[in-house]
Amino acid sequence: MRRLEGRHAIITGGGSGMGRASALRLAEEGAALMVVGRREDPLRETVRMVNEAGGTCIYHVADAGDEAGISGAIERCIRELGGLEIFFANAGNTDSVKPFLEQTVEQWEGMFRDNVVTAFVACKLAGRYMAEHGGGSIILNSSTGSLRARGGTEAYGASKAGVNHLTMTAACAFAGKGVRVNAILPGLTETGLTKPMFDWARKAGKEDRLGKLTPMQRPGYVEDMAGVVAFLASDDSAYVDGQLIPVDGGISATHPAGKFVY
Ligand SMILES: NC(=O)c1ccc[n+]([C@@H]2O[C@H](COP(=O)([O-])OP(=O)(O)OC[C@H]3O[C@@H](n4cnc5c(N)ncnc54)[C@H](O)[C@@H]3O)[C@@H](O)[C@H]2O)c1
Repeated sequence: MRRLEGRHAIITGGGSGMGRASALRLAEEGAALMVVGRREDPLRETVRMVNEAGGTCIYHVADAGDEAGISGAIERCIRELGGLEIFFANAGNTDSVKPFLEQTVEQWEGMFRDNVVTAFVACKLAGRYMAEHGGGSIILNSSTGSLRARGGTEAYGASKAGVNHLTMTAACAFAGKGVRVNAILPGLTETGLTKPMFDWARKAGKEDRLGKLTPMQRPGYVEDMAGVVAFLASDDSAYVDGQLIPVDGGISATHPAGKFVY
C-alpha cells in the first residue's frame, strides 16, 4: 500500500525504536520524511536505512521541546521536501523506578518536559502550519502507563496522562481546520528505553514472561506501533480525531489477574 504518496512527514526521536520503525513504514507507504533528534549519528543511520529501502529521508538535529529548533525543522521540511502533512511527535522518555517519597521536583519537571512539552510544541507549530495549508495529521506517542497506576513510575504515568489530555484539547483547538490529532498508547515494547528490563528477563531465564499478561501473550514490536502510526497518518483514519488508541496486545482491556484459562 502507498497511502502516503505525495505527503511529507516529520518524526521526532527518529533515530531509534518506534521513531525509526515508523520512518521506514511511512516511507514504504510513499511519504517523504524528515527525522529529528538530539544526536546526529542515530539520525544518519535512519536516513541511510530509509534511503537504502528506496525512500526519501533527511535529518535535522534539534531538541523536540525547543520551539526554535522545531520551528527550524518545519521550515527546512517545507523548503527541502515540499510541505508538511504528517507530524509524529514520538520523542519521549521513561523514568527509572523509584519509591514515591524519594522522587524529586527536578525529576518530575524533566519527565514533563520530555513527554508533554515536546508534544505541545509539535501540536502548536505543526498544527499552525497545517491549519493554514490544507490540514494534516498529528500523532502523539503516549503510553498504556498513562491509564493505570504502577508504583515507582508516577512522573512518567502523569506526564503521559498529560499527553492524552493534550491529544483531546489539541483536536478541539484545530476544529474545522482539517488538522486531526490522535495518540497511540504503546504497551511494553523492546526498544532502547526498555532494554534493561528485557536484558534482565533474558539473564534471569524469564524472557517467556514478557508480555504474558496481555491477551496476545507477547510484548509489542516496534512494527506494531508503526502500522498504527501509518493508519493514523493516512486518509483511512479521516474521521478519527482526538482519540487515544492503545497498541498493547489488549492489556488495557483486562484486569491482569494471572493465567488466561480459556
Ligand atoms: N518502549 C516502550 O515499551 C514504550 C511504551 C509506551 C510508550 N513509549 C513511548 O514511545 C516513544 C518512543 O520511545 P521508544 O520506546 O522507541 O524508545 P527510544 O529510546 O528508542 O526512542 C526515544 C527517542 O526519543 C529521543 N528523545 C527523547 N527526548 C527527546 C527530546 N527532548 N528531543 C529529541 N529527541 C528526544 C531519544 O533520543 C530517542 O531517540 C517515547 O515517547 C516513549 O515514552 C515506549
